[in-house]
Amino acid sequence: MAEWLTVILAAGKGTRMKSALPKVLHKVGGKPMVQQVMDAATQAGASRNIVVVGFGGDEVKTAIGEQAQCVVQQEQLGTGHAVMQAQGLLAGFSGTVMVLAGDTPLLTEALLKRLHQEHEAKGAAATVLTFIPDDAAAYGRVVRNEAGQVVKIVERKDATEEEAAIREVNSAIYCFDCKALLDALGKINCDNAQGEYYLTDVIGILAARGDLVWAVVADDHQDTMGINSRRQLAEAEQIMRRRKLEQLMDDGVTVMDPASTYVDAQVQVGRDTILYPNTWLEGATVIGENCAIGPDVRLQNVAVGDGCTLHFLYGHDCRVGDGVIAGPYVHLRPQTKLADKVKIGNFVEVKNSSIGQGSKIPHLSYIGDADMGAGVNMGCGCVTVNYDGKQKHRTTIADGAFVGCNANLVAPVTVGEGAYVAAGSTITKDVPAESLGVARARQTNIDGWTKRR
Ligand code: UD1
Ligand code: CA
Repeated sequence: MAEWLTVILAAGKGTRMKSALPKVLHKVGGKPMVQQVMDAATQAGASRNIVVVGFGGDEVKTAIGEQAQCVVQQEQLGTGHAVMQAQGLLAGFSGTVMVLAGDTPLLTEALLKRLHQEHEAKGAAATVLTFIPDDAAAYGRVVRNEAGQVVKIVERKDATEEEAAIREVNSAIYCFDCKALLDALGKINCDNAQGEYYLTDVIGILAARGDLVWAVVADDHQDTMGINSRRQLAEAEQIMRRRKLEQLMDDGVTVMDPASTYVDAQVQVGRDTILYPNTWLEGATVIGENCAIGPDVRLQNVAVGDGCTLHFLYGHDCRVGDGVIAGPYVHLRPQTKLADKVKIGNFVEVKNSSIGQGSKIPHLSYIGDADMGAGVNMGCGCVTVNYDGKQKHRTTIADGAFVGCNANLVAPVTVGEGAYVAAGSTITKDVPAESLGVARARQTNIDGWTKRR
C-alpha cells in the first residue's frame, strides 16, 4: 500500500488543564497523550508522523525525540494555520495525509485503519471522521446535502440555528489527499466568529469545487474524545484502564476487581493469571501464566515468569523467574534477579542482587549487591553490609550455604559452597566451602547473679 503520513496538532495551551505542563504531555494509561496518538497512527500503518508544537514546544519536542518530525507554530491562529506550518515538510508528497489532534488519547488502531482504508477506497479528496454525541456541544457540525455528501463543516459559533441542530459532528480527525489539502489551505481565511484559520474550511472548499468529500462515522464516540480538562483526563484514564482490563480478560486473565486494578497499556499478562485487588502493573511489566498477583502489588518494569505468587509487594526494574513466592511486605529494587522457585517474604528488601534457584530469604533481611547461589537458606534478620560510607561492595554466598539468624556479612566477603554461618555472627572474612564461620563472643553464665544483685 502507498505510504501515508500524519500531521498531529499539538500546539494549543490547554488553558483549562490549569497546568505548567503542555496539555499533550499529560499522561493517560501511563503514556503522554501525544504518544498515544502517535502509537495509534503508527500501528494503523502511518510511515511518518509530523507534530505541530507551540505552547511548551521544547518540552513536547524532547518528549517526542526521534519518533516524529516537529514543526513549531509560533502563534496559535487556528487549526488551519497549524497544518500550514507543516507545508514545508509536505511539499512534494503526493499520498494521503491524516490530520489528528494530540489530545485524543483514546484513538484506536482499528478506527484509524478504517478511516484510512475508506478514504483510499473512495479515492476521496478528503474524508472526515465524524461521530454523533448525546450533546453536540461546541463541536463543528457536519453539513451534508440531500445525497448525503459532506458539503461543509460549520463551527458552533458560526452556525445558523438550523445547522446548530445537526447532531453529527466533526472529530477533528481527517484524511486528505496531500495536494488537495495544500491547494485548499492556500484559500482559507480568518473571516469567522473566532478570527481563526479553520482547518474545517478546507472541507467546504474541496466540496464546493466538486471534489469528493467522504465521512466515516465512528461507532464509539469515546474513541475520539478530546481532553480539555482534568475531569476529562480522569474520565479518559478510566476508559483506557477498563479497555485494557477487558482485553486481558478476553485473553484469559482473571481480574478480581477491575475498579482497583491498574494496568498500563503496554503491560502483558499470561493466561490463567489472577490479578487480585489493588494491583498496579506499570511500564514495561510482563507477567507469565498461572500467577497470583496481589492484593497490594505494584510492579514497574518487572518481568515475572510463570506460576509465581506475589502479594503485598513493591518491585521495580527487576526480573523474577518461574514459581517464585514473594511477600508479604517485600521490596524488590532495581537490578534484582530472582531465579526459579526463590522464596522471599516478611519484610525483606533485595537490591542489585541475583538470587539463585530455590534460595530462601524468608524474614526481615536486607540483601544488597549480593550474588547468591542456588539452595541458599538465609535465616531471619540477615544483612549484607554493602556500604562503607564511600563505596558499595559485593557479597557472594555460594550454592547450598546456610546463614544463621541475625548475621551480618560485611562486604566484600564470600561464604563458600555448603558453608554455615553461625547465628549472630558478624562475618568480615571469607568462610571457606563446607566450613562453619562463627564470629561472636562466647557466652558466659554467672552463677547466682540474680540474688547477689
Ligand atoms: C476543532 C474543530 C471542530 C471539532 C473539534 C473536535 C476546527 C476549526 N474545529 O474545534 O470542528 O468538532 O475540533 O474536538 O478545527 N491547535 C493547534 N494550533 C492552533 C489551534 C489548535 O495546534 O492554532 C490544536 C490544539 O492543540 C488541539 C487541536 O488543534 O489539539 C484542536 O484545537 P481546538 O482549539 O481544541 O479546536 P476546537 O475549537 O475544539
Ligand atoms: Ca477541542
